[in-house]
Amino acid sequence: MLPTHVKVVEVGPRDGLQNEAALVPAHIKIDLVNRLSAAGFANIEVTSFVSPKWVPQMADNAAVLAGIDRRPGTSFSALTPNVKGLENALKCSVDEVVIFGSASETFSQRNIACSIAESIERFRPLVQCAKEANLRVRGGISMVFGCPFEGDVPLRAVIDVVERMAALGCDEIDLADTIGVATAGHVEETIHAVSEVFPKERLAGHFHDTYGQALANVLASLQAGISIFHSAVAGLGGCPYAKGATGNVATEDLLYLLHGLGIRTGVDLEQVVEAGEFISAHLGRRPVSRVNNALTAKRLASAERATC
Ligand code: HMG
Ligand code: MG
Repeated sequence: MLPTHVKVVEVGPRDGLQNEAALVPAHIKIDLVNRLSAAGFANIEVTSFVSPKWVPQMADNAAVLAGIDRRPGTSFSALTPNVKGLENALKCSVDEVVIFGSASETFSQRNIACSIAESIERFRPLVQCAKEANLRVRGGISMVFGCPFEGDVPLRAVIDVVERMAALGCDEIDLADTIGVATAGHVEETIHAVSEVFPKERLAGHFHDTYGQALANVLASLQAGISIFHSAVAGLGGCPYAKGATGNVATEDLLYLLHGLGIRTGVDLEQVVEAGEFISAHLGRRPVSRVNNALTAKRLASAERATC
């Protein structure tokens, strides 16, 4: 039985734009976030409070958060790898912070410069302070379905990190296919196993689309009882510390699938298509979204017919 409502977390401004070679100006990011919140998202991952030496693309975090409209009904979230990141995020009035770990040791070292065990100890005071400040805390787990450095990732390694993040007090846990290698059967098996140790209702699917499997993985997740998904407008993105990984599933494609199944999201697809056009025009390329390109072509054709 499929859910009747799905929460879509728009991660394009963070997961997408962190990967752009050319820095995107803060005013463009602000315009993008405002267009996305007007479209009705319950949650937008706006930026990250990470070291600017590691990810210079997110160094304008404070300016972006200061510039956006705070639409009631939208939660504005940001990544925080350590207490320093949390302190900076708190000054910018975020609604939710995201700690991010890994199910693979090598990626943990490459992405946040510490082992998995060390990362949990680093997150402990962060989560405590975030809770004291009444913030929601999300726990992101990378490389759940495979790692570019270690290959297959054992399910027991995934369960282990989920248990540790749950014990820290995470409100929601994101299962991330960072390099987009997962297939539907693997996703289904993983969700069934993870939901033995953490409630399914608070698990999210974060699928990158490198191998073109993201929508199939979303459908498998829906059938396994998941009702929170991450996606990026125009299919933006990748991960700077996982070479070859492409963007998240495009939000336009995800919404088309969900709405086609009669699942409510509260998000206006047309407005997301326009936001995708806006950011893609700035980046000088077409959106990486079949649905965006199809709907844009349809709109242009009907505008042409109207002027004939
Ligand atoms: P480190 O070098 O071990 O940090 O990096 P450190 O504590 O030794 O500090 C070194 C310098 O960084 C110091 O500055 C600190 O003040 C500064 P210096 O004295 O040299 O001038 N620093 C900071 N500055 C600003 N904000 C901070 C901060 N912390 C330290 N929060 C660290 C450790 C975690 C900081 C670093 O590895 C880092 O920033 N990593 C983040 C990498 C990243 O953002 N990756 C992409 C996001 S994850 C992702 O995309 C995956 C996801 O989408 C899910 C999926 O798909 O898998 C979520
Ligand atoms: Mg990601």
